[in-house]
Amino acid sequence: MRIGDIELKKPLALAPMENVSDPPFRRICKDYGADILYTEFANCEAVVRDVKRTLRKFEIDDAERPIGIQIYGNKPDSMERAAALAEEAKPDFIDLNAGCWVRKIAMRGDGAGLLRNLPRFEAVVKAVVRGTRLPVTAKTRLGWDEDTINILDVARMVEQCGVQMLAVHCRTRVQGYKGEADWSWLEKVKAVISIPLIGNGDVRSPEDVRRMFDTGCDGVMIGRAAIQNAWIFARAKHYLATGEHLPEPTLSERVELCLRHLRAAAEYKGERRAVLEHRKHYATYLKGEPNIAKLRAGLMQFETIEPIEERLRRFAVRSSAPTDTPAP
Ligand SMILES: Cc1cc2nc3c(=O)[nH]c(=O)nc-3n(C[C@H](O)[C@H](O)[C@H](O)COP(=O)(O)O)c2cc1C
Repeated sequence: MRIGDIELKKPLALAPMENVSDPPFRRICKDYGADILYTEFANCEAVVRDVKRTLRKFEIDDAERPIGIQIYGNKPDSMERAAALAEEAKPDFIDLNAGCWVRKIAMRGDGAGLLRNLPRFEAVVKAVVRGTRLPVTAKTRLGWDEDTINILDVARMVEQCGVQMLAVHCRTRVQGYKGEADWSWLEKVKAVISIPLIGNGDVRSPEDVRRMFDTGCDGVMIGRAAIQNAWIFARAKHYLATGEHLPEPTLSERVELCLRHLRAAAEYKGERRAVLEHRKHYATYLKGEPNIAKLRAGLMQFETIEPIEERLRRFAVRSSAPTDTPAP
């Protein structure tokens, strides 16, 4: 499949995730095999008003390519301008968010709110395409609710307006994350467009990746499962190529990745902030390990990296030690 000049074969994309897919996390997923990256979403009004915290989301590194900057909003003028400003950061494409379900965003007509107002959606797509010479892509949901699923109209519309790749999270806005993503829509969407289609929603294992490709979509996007396990990209690629599974990462490997992530985050945003924000990641990196409540409670007390490293490594060694070794 192609996005502009970029040729990709069965790509795996890391989903855009606010407060998660920052540069340190993106880099880890890239190293583990993610082929397409996106920034966290940036509000077009904040971009236009030059809000520093939002513009920081535009920071990208050459090692991350191909990467798209994602913007959202419902005012065509602001979206056009935000696309032009995003282009200055030299991403490979600009992505339009038409899928965010969060109440305060969707209810004011941004994100998935565009699905309730197709004329406005169309005007926004055209504005973004006008605003940049880069390829424009879009990410959306099936529709607002189950009675108004309009993804086929949306898919046709975005292609006609010049969008060059479409990612579909196979749920409605009203579903949020409830229920199961309905992948049966991917085949139907594929049938009405000729631009590449990226499937998204509930991909949690290498088998899921294969099943989603079986629907006919051109790429597979992974969000939450990558937070728990960046290895999913490499493991899925190995499975697609050989039909066999790479071993699951060991506890030591997970601990080391957790620490690498923390150190990279500290370099990016400063040690104290990185340590505080990293607290949400311990549960996911250590998922499935018995008795982590006490460990986590201990880690929450620290505000610097050193004691965290020490405590986590000690936990990994102790938990990996054989328990049935006979006494000497
Ligand atoms: C913490 C979090 C933040 C998210 N932020 C964004 C975002 O900024 N832009 C976006 O298009 N989708 C965002 N999403 C939605 C994901 O990109 C993805 O569509 C969704 O999680 C479904 O995929 P999954 O089942 O693989 O997680 C976010 C999801 C999560 C869990």
